[in-house]
Amino acid sequence: MSAEERRRLIEAMRPEDAEPVPQLHQVDVPDELRERIEAAMAKYPQVRSAALPALWAVQRHYGWCTPEGMREAAAVMGVTPAYLESLATFYDLFRTSPVARHQVLVCHNISCWLRGADDLIGALCEAAGIDAHEADHGGANSPDGEVFVKGFECMGACDLAPMASIDERYYGPLDTDDARAAVEQLRAGSEVLPGKALAERPAAGGPEPDPDPRVKEVESGDA
Ligand code: FES
Repeated sequence: MSAEERRRLIEAMRPEDAEPVPQLHQVDVPDELRERIEAAMAKYPQVRSAALPALWAVQRHYGWCTPEGMREAAAVMGVTPAYLESLATFYDLFRTSPVARHQVLVCHNISCWLRGADDLIGALCEAAGIDAHEADHGGANSPDGEVFVKGFECMGACDLAPMASIDERYYGPLDTDDARAAVEQLRAGSEVLPGKALAERPAAGGPEPDPDPRVKEVESGDA
């Protein structure tokens, strides 16, 4: 990095980037949020290991990782707000700006794309009144604040392709009729896509097989 680049980088820093660890008396942490963060901290030998669960708790509490929520978490953990913000802006599942009430993440990776992910995003966006390009490139909220749609990378459920995560539950395979139905159901507060939820489907490849006897052999050292 040249001296000039370094100077520009330093100049681009915001005052909050250099904020020290906030003290607990400087923030007003809701009891429930504080308890969740402290429970996460108790699970790890290093406090910093609890950063992701702490951010998750902030997101669950406020709907997104608000700057004030991250300050509160930083005070509980004894880390800087900038440390938590750097993680929240790195990981795709954290929202650092306000989002609609329901979140629909549509996988547009190879298996889902080959099986119609583009059409699925298009139908979801049309039903929700969202620009599909915007949704597929960073995510977008519907004007009524009810539905957030975002193109996402592989969610490890390729056997459901094309699939989506709707309010943290997997659904698939989905078609354009499902997309329209899902948006209506989300707005109405009714059950989403009955029968398409992963939790209600049999395991991929059929019923769960009996445990592989060779696993026991390896564990017992007989192999
Ligand atoms: S490619 Fe869509 S879940 Fe893997």
